[in-house]
Formats: sequence, structure tokens, C-alpha cells
Amino acid sequence: MYKIFNTTQEASHYTAQRLLTRIQANPHANLGLATGSTMEPVYHRLLECLQREPVDLSQLTTFNLDEYIGLDAEHAQSYRYYMHQHLFNKLSIPEDKINLPDGMAMDVEGACQAYSEAIRGAGGLDLQLLGIGSNGHIGFNEPHTCFSSRTHVIELSEQTRLDNGRFFVNKKEVPTRAITMGIQDILEAKEIVLLATGMKKAAIMADLFHSTVDEALPASALKQHSNVTIVLDCEAASLLPQQVFNEAVGIMEGVR
Ligand code: F6R
Repeated sequence: MYKIFNTTQEASHYTAQRLLTRIQANPHANLGLATGSTMEPVYHRLLECLQREPVDLSQLTTFNLDEYIGLDAEHAQSYRYYMHQHLFNKLSIPEDKINLPDGMAMDVEGACQAYSEAIRGAGGLDLQLLGIGSNGHIGFNEPHTCFSSRTHVIELSEQTRLDNGRFFVNKKEVPTRAITMGIQDILEAKEIVLLATGMKKAAIMADLFHSTVDEALPASALKQHSNVTIVLDCEAASLLPQQVFNEAVGIMEGVR
């Protein structure tokens, strides 16, 4: 299902509202969280909502999608740092209910296996929030990742390292490897919300729309899931066929 909004702000607010609704409906929910520029306004809005309408977060559990290998919690570009800066430092989720892959683990393979087991042990993800890479990655599952994958080490693609180079002093500093939740872990979430905003995501959103289920385009795995919402602003949706806009009538007015 597509939801298309006029602005990034509206799309982000809608996404934050989906998270909030899930938390309100089930204070024991297991949330799968993402990082990246797209999620910043989502977390900002979620915090605003929670300030206005406080909710007990003490029973909530979170699992982040991914983490760079070799960046510790103090590194400003680690995803652990990002999550604390943008969300966790401002919320009262108990630290032991916050889960991120450990990019500094000595036994990285063991840590990956334990991560997927922890998700399943917690009862699975109630809602998984996703962004999308310009090459169609979800989490850091790069093109040609097996759709039956569990949490694993991934060699980051040149495209991803180029895209994410904007966060680092220079591209050489972008880690070459990361740990990512696997596609199978993601597909087992009860509900998935993928948010894409801005012109930079227009081409991949069109590719995704036209694609069959194909490991060359990791996000196409979502076509196998029965409860996925794709949330777009009108820039990210701008290369989608008119048919998608027609089906989105009532969700947004005046686009196109
Ligand atoms: C990050 C993640 C990635 C990003 C994607 C888009 O945890 O899972 O898949 O969602 O790379 O990143 P931005 O939002 O920076 O364009």
C-alpha cells in the first residue's frame, strides 16, 4: 500500500504517528528501527508527540537494523551514537531493551547469530521501520543478498559508501563492512513501514514499483509481505505511474 504526501514533513509525521500508534496499542511492542537522514524528522516528530502525550516506554524493546563494523558507540557516525543522539537519550526506554548489532564484537559471526535469535526470542518484530538506499538496499542488505538471510556481515557496495560518504570527512573513512539484520528477519516483522523522501529516492522507488521479486533489488523482497506501507513525499513518488497516485487518492490532495 502506498501513502503519498505533498511534503517530507507530512510523510515523516505520518510515519512517526504509525510508530506512536503501535506503541500506544501495545506498550510491550518490539520495534525495528532504522537510521539515516530520512529518519531524522521521524524521530524528531515522535519525540514531539511523546512530549505532548507521554506514554510508558518502560516495556518497549527496540532492535536496530544495522551498524558499521569498526565504529564504537562514541564514534559520531556509528548508528549506536545516532540512535542515542536522535532518540534514546531523550526517552525512557531501559538501556537493556535497546538492541543494536555490535560493530565492535570480537566474535562477529556469533554476535550476528545471537542478534537474530534475540529478535525471535523476544517474539519477533511488531513493526519494522525501513528507509531505502539508492541501490534498493534495506538495512544494509545490498543487491544480491539472499532473501533468506539472517543477521550477517555485509561488504558495503561502492554505491552505499559513496552515498554515505556525506557523513564522513572523506570517503576513505566510510567503513567497508557492516552488520545488518537479514532480509528474512525483516520479512518476519508483522508490519513494515518503508519511508522514502526527496528526489534522490525517485528512481529507486520507480524501479521498485516495476520490479519483480528479485534479489538484485533487495527492497523487492517486501512484495512477498502482506502488511507493508510505503510512505513517500511527492518528490520520491514523482517517477511512479499515475495509477499509484490514483490509488492514493484521499491520502493527499493536489499532487500532480
Ligand atoms: C539505516 C538503513 C539504511 C538507510 C538507507 C537510506 O539504518 O537501514 O537502509 O535507511 O541507506 O539512508 P538515508 O535515509 O540516509 O538516505
